Amino acid sequence: MDTQGINFYDKELDIGRVVAEAQLEDCDEALNICDLSTVERKFELWQKQLPRITPFYAVKCNDDKRIVQTLADLGVGFDCASKNELKQVLDYGVSPDRIIFANPCRPISHLDYAKQQKVLKGTVDNEFEIYKLHKHYPNSNLIVRFKSEAKAAQCPLGDKFGCDADIDASALMLLAKSLDLTVTGTSFHVGSGCSDMEAYERAIRKAKNLFKFGQLLGYDLDLLDIGGGFPGSDDEHFIKLAGTVNSAVQKYFPDERIQIIAEPGRFFVAASYTLVCKIHAKREVRNSAGKLDTVMYYLNDGVYGSFNCILYDHQTVTVEHYLPADPLLPTFKSLIWGPSCDALDKISEDLRLPYLKRGDLLGFPNMGAYTVPIASAFNGFPLPKTLYFKAI
Ligand SMILES: Cc1ncc(COP(=O)(O)O)c(C=O)c1O
Repeated sequence: MDTQGINFYDKELDIGRVVAEAQLEDCDEALNICDLSTVERKFELWQKQLPRITPFYAVKCNDDKRIVQTLADLGVGFDCASKNELKQVLDYGVSPDRIIFANPCRPISHLDYAKQQKVLKGTVDNEFEIYKLHKHYPNSNLIVRFKSEAKAAQCPLGDKFGCDADIDASALMLLAKSLDLTVTGTSFHVGSGCSDMEAYERAIRKAKNLFKFGQLLGYDLDLLDIGGGFPGSDDEHFIKLAGTVNSAVQKYFPDERIQIIAEPGRFFVAASYTLVCKIHAKREVRNSAGKLDTVMYYLNDGVYGSFNCILYDHQTVTVEHYLPADPLLPTFKSLIWGPSCDALDKISEDLRLPYLKRGDLLGFPNMGAYTVPIASAFNGFPLPKTLYFKAI
């Protein structure tokens, strides 16, 4: 197996076989298995379900260089939040018009860099940033980000970003107009991991009203940005959400001259990673009568490493073990800890697992979103290495 480059496979990636061939017996570090073809398949699914909408991948979700390169090669655009993210994407040869600087509050040096690199599109949601743009990047294209939250989302974002859609967004456009700045569109983010089927419809309707107001001011708005929020590991749910987006777009933005973009993050990458961890220690917890209550397992990755998604992204992880699938095998109440000395470092509890032993491996699918860029080597436990795979 190539540990530096990309490994190629025929038809389907057999994770069990990869794990067996990786010979992890003598290795104390966790391992990421990244299937780059999953990213390509997600792109095909996007094109099929949302043909009118150009995806601008949110780099923050997973900035792994092979993931970003794969998406750049597919022609996807990018949502960057900082100078470094802009630089990373530009270094892959992505042209500035395929980038949106989608952080409504940017340090001046980052804005200067965007200006120098001619990244024109940027979101804005408050008057201070408009004055900042007036001073530092007056010929940029302002995309007014308004708030329109899903009723249910894994990570709501509305407390931090997005102006009020009914009054403040119009006031910001008026201010921009009085400063001779150019507003070219509007954006919103319904919240990451959106499960509200009507969320995009509501937001797109509000965007339509703002387009009308912009026209009254003499602006020629031509960009609608519908943000992120699409699921990463549930394609059926994605297809349903895409259906509601398509009908709202058809209803409110039938004019094909208006470019519609989105900023999907987890949609592209969640399913592309499987994390393989090793049980390096275990304990049995017994009740006062000596009866086994819970088996506790300690893994070589935890919430300060890849499983930070449990804390920050409110994810519930799924565990797979690599024992023969025998339904007669008894299962026990189990709890899984990470490797650090902190009791917050808990991965999963109240699980039913077969009786596992030290050295056994556990697999966690769908670990590609909001894991890699945030993970730290707290307490001296190294981050997992990544093996890359791609279909021939
Ligand atoms: C501005 C912006 N765009 C896009 C995303 C990506 O969202 P998701 O991963 O839900 O698609 C985020 C996530 O926080 C974001 O803040």
